[in-house]
This record gives sequence, C-alpha cells and structure tokens, in this order.
Amino acid sequence: MDKRVQEFSDRGSLTVVSVTVPTSTPWWKKSVFYQIYPRSYSDSTNNGIGDLRGIINKIRGGYLTKLGIDAIWLSPMYPSPQEDFGYDITDFNAINPEYGTMDDFDELLEVLHANNIKIILDMVLNHTSHKHKWFKQSKTSLTNPKREWYVWKKGKGKHGKSPPNNWKAIIGGSAWEWDETTEEFYLHQFLPCQPDLNWQNSEVKKAMFNSMKFWLDKGVDGFRLDIIHTVFEDTQFRDNPRSIYLLPSHLRLDSLFQNPIFTQFLPETVDLCVDLRSLVDNYNPERVLIGEAAGGPEIISPLYGTPEKSGLNLVFDFQFANQSFSSKKFKNSILDSITHLNDFWPCYTFSNHDTVRMISRYGNSEKKARVLTLLLLTVRGTPVIYQGEEIGMHQGKIPRNKVVDPIGKWKIWGLPLGRFFGRDGCRTPFQWTNSKINAGFSSNPDVKPWLPISSNFQKINVESQEKNEYSMFNFYRELLRFRHENEWLQEGKMEFIETQSKHCLAFSRNLGPNSGMVILNFHKKPIRIINPFLNSEKVFSTDTLSHSKVLEKYITVNRYEGIIIQKKSFRD
Ligand code: NOJ
Repeated sequence: MDKRVQEFSDRGSLTVVSVTVPTSTPWWKKSVFYQIYPRSYSDSTNNGIGDLRGIINKIRGGYLTKLGIDAIWLSPMYPSPQEDFGYDITDFNAINPEYGTMDDFDELLEVLHANNIKIILDMVLNHTSHKHKWFKQSKTSLTNPKREWYVWKKGKGKHGKSPPNNWKAIIGGSAWEWDETTEEFYLHQFLPCQPDLNWQNSEVKKAMFNSMKFWLDKGVDGFRLDIIHTVFEDTQFRDNPRSIYLLPSHLRLDSLFQNPIFTQFLPETVDLCVDLRSLVDNYNPERVLIGEAAGGPEIISPLYGTPEKSGLNLVFDFQFANQSFSSKKFKNSILDSITHLNDFWPCYTFSNHDTVRMISRYGNSEKKARVLTLLLLTVRGTPVIYQGEEIGMHQGKIPRNKVVDPIGKWKIWGLPLGRFFGRDGCRTPFQWTNSKINAGFSSNPDVKPWLPISSNFQKINVESQEKNEYSMFNFYRELLRFRHENEWLQEGKMEFIETQSKHCLAFSRNLGPNSGMVILNFHKKPIRIINPFLNSEKVFSTDTLSHSKVLEKYITVNRYEGIIIQKKSFRD
C-alpha cells in the first residue's frame, strides 16, 4: 500500500510529499499467475493455430480482467520449427511468424500493462533447436568458432561410435546424438532436436544474458526458466552412478536407473541463479524469476540462493501436481515446503502444458477440483493456474493418428507406449464458446485446429459458464475477487489447525489483526467439527461461493467442500 511520508524542506517549512514507497511484500508474492500456451489459446488468423493477436483480442475484450489474475506466464512464442512446440528455439530475440510480429508482441505488452497485468516469458537456457544458426555453424567443423557453444565429445569404442558415457536424456534414451559431419556426439538433455548449450563457455552466457536483457528492456516482468537444473554437466564427463529407481520423486532425482549427479543440479547452477537474479535486479520496477526444476523442496531450495546472495525468486514445487486426493498428503507436501524453504516463498501449481489436466487426475470431479483450487489460492505461496483450469477443461482424448507431441509419438521397445505420456491432451484448444465452429477458438469452419477440440466443448466453455452463477468460471472469479480483497490471504502467516476429522485440512492465515481460516473436506461424506473461531461466519464456500452465514458451535462442511471462515469482528 502506498504511504505518505513527510519531509521538511531546507527552508524549514513543512512540506507534505507524496512518495510511492514500495510495499514490503513484492508483487510476485501476492500475484496469481496464469499460464497461456499461445498455440492453443485463440486463433485470430483462422489457420488453426493460436497467436498473439488472439490473446490481445481476449484481453481487449476484458477476459483476463474479468477472471481476475495478476500476471501471465507466456509459453514460448519465439521462432521455432515446433518439433517440441516452441521449446526448440531458433531465435531468442524474435517472434514466431505463425504467432505474429514484434509489433504484436509490443502491443500485447502494452495492453497487459494498461490492464495492470504483468507478463513473464519462458526462457530456455539449457538448449536451442538443432536448426538454430549457432548449432548449424557449430556442427560444420571441429574448428568452427561456434563449436564450443555446444557440448561435443568423441565417442567410445573401436570406431568411436558408442556414446561417450552413460548419461541419459530426461525423457529416456542416451543423452548423446551422433553427428556424421564431424564424427562426434553432441549432448541433449531433452530431445535430440534440442542440443544443449555449453554453459562453461562465457560467450554462451553473454549471448543468453543479452537475450534476456532484450526482453527486459522492452518491459517484460520476468521469466520462467525452463529446466534450469540441467544447464550444467560434469566437465570430466563422468558416468552417472547406477540406481534402482525407474522414476524420480520429490525426494530424489534418480530416474531410469541412474542417479543424475553429473547432469543435474551441478554446483554451478546456484551461481548462475545468483547471476540471473543480479541481472533482473538491475531493473525497476521489480522483475521476477521462476525456475522450473525437478524434485521437491529439499532439492530445489538451493536455487533460491541464500539470504545474503539471492538466487531465483521462486521455484515451482510440483508436489501438488503429483498428489492423490488426500488431506494428509497435501498437508505433508506443504509441511515439506515450509521445512525446507524456510523464509523463501513457495510457488505451487496443479498443472501446466506438460501434465495431465488437474481435474482429470481426480476423475473429472468438479467438486474435488474446487477444493484443490481453494487450497491453491489460499495457501501461503504464489499460485500458478494453467489456461482452461478456470472452466474445468478436461484432458483431451487424442486419436492415435492425431498425436503430434514427440513424447506422445515415442516408441519404447518398438511399441507406441509414448501415448501414455504424451502431452497433447492438456494442450487442446481453449473452449471459448459452444459454437460447433471450433468452440470459438478459430472461427473458420473449414479449419481443423492443430489439435482436436474436446468433444465436451458444448458444456465446458466460457460463454455458457459466464451465464451460470455457480459455474466453475464464476467460482474462480469469486475466489480471485475474494483473495484480492483480503490481503491476509495473500501475505498472511499460515498455521495448520487440528480438527476432529482426519479428512479435513484446515489452516489459518493471519496478517496483523486480519485473519481467517480455510477448511477443506477431502471426504465423500460431510464432516462436523467444532468451530475453532467463536463468533465467526462462513464467508466463502466452494459449493455456494461468496456469502455470509453466521456459524454456531459446530460447523458442517459438505462432502468435498472447502470453506473460508472469519471472526465476525474482522468483517464488521
Ligand atoms: C520443460 C517444458 O515445460 C517442456 O514443455 C519442454 O518440452 C522441455 N522443458 C524442454 O524444453
């Protein structure tokens, strides 16, 4: 909140100067972020692919303001051959012509800021596309000036055609790809079409920092940093130790039967995070960096730096995105974060363009999704919502011949098993209307969007839900409005409250004299608990949205219902 400060002028008379003093709580702690995946948001050119103008039109039409989010994270909109749908970049300082022009981007930035909405971009520091001019040059000869911009290594074996070591790509298979021209292997921690940049080379760092400056100078409010934990590798190229684990968890990074100590979270990563923070901290108003990294709070906490040497402002904690519907499990995840992050600020999310949609993880139950959304938007930390969650979009069903995601097309032992991991289902076009013409995503009836529209679009779309007072969309709007009006929900201290039911997750948030309590029932039956706040009222419910109901000695929380209660005196 702005404060007025008084100053004496040198002549001794009293002058009241109105100065904007930055609030002690930075904007990125209080904001609700909303991820926009541009390819699937809104198609203004009627070619079946979403674009920047589509996003601009939605903002000008008031959609984001109506929803009530504070900032967007825009997935990559840079030029790309789209082999990994934007995460394979050929130019970090330009706009993919399929999505629009730099003028469109500038307009997007302007219209967002005019509506008080911040924007962070996706920055992929780990790799480029194999079609990036740097890589094209790098692979021409062993002596090309760009050779050392990527990680090249001679192979093993008689003909040097066996990979240099046992390192595996995150998604499986060797992390090394053979290159015929120079007869060496190059490293790719993700797909073969995404060669890893060599961060030991100071020229790479300079070039990537310059790209970030390019966007910061334009006024973007920060970055989401793609797989930041894989940027460095062991310079001695030692084999990763073997492990018994197939899949990673929040407690350990081991995956595909190896422990990636030489390919993930190398100590240099923390120094890089500190340098990145120094870069963005040169800018005013304050910018933000949100890291994407594997692992739970204990593993990701070093990326935050130390109280003396700040690293990233936020790092995604993906525990919520991997949890069964249990009060105990969610409570443990939050406790884990509190234990390991201490004063650093958590960043929670339920889904994104890589995961199964949140509601579909819980049997497409809207009631359960509402309980979890109430948790996300009231727990201490920064929440990130994925486009479509606000209308309860389901995971799309993609026929086998329509699969486009490289992971979805993956064959394991010759079998099309990638289908089970494919990410197309959460990227289906946004459902704006109940129109049979592409659900309002694209208005040309002859156009087939890049991914099929979900068949449930007539029920699940913005237009229909706007008209229904109790719809998922209006639930999001009401809850976001309530959060904005109540600072204690954004910044307040958090404490768990014990209730008489093991199915109940309850916590208070306190900010000075203002406080309230959130009670979530994870059970299929109603629960009755003693009212922990005497003389209180229910001010929000996932079933009935905002209202005011004075509470007695006992409170009943319906099956799969979440409520917010407050002492009456705070509201009077
Ligand atoms: C994580 C991104 O979220 C994902 O979509 C992408 O494929 C990989 N990083 C590689 O950039």
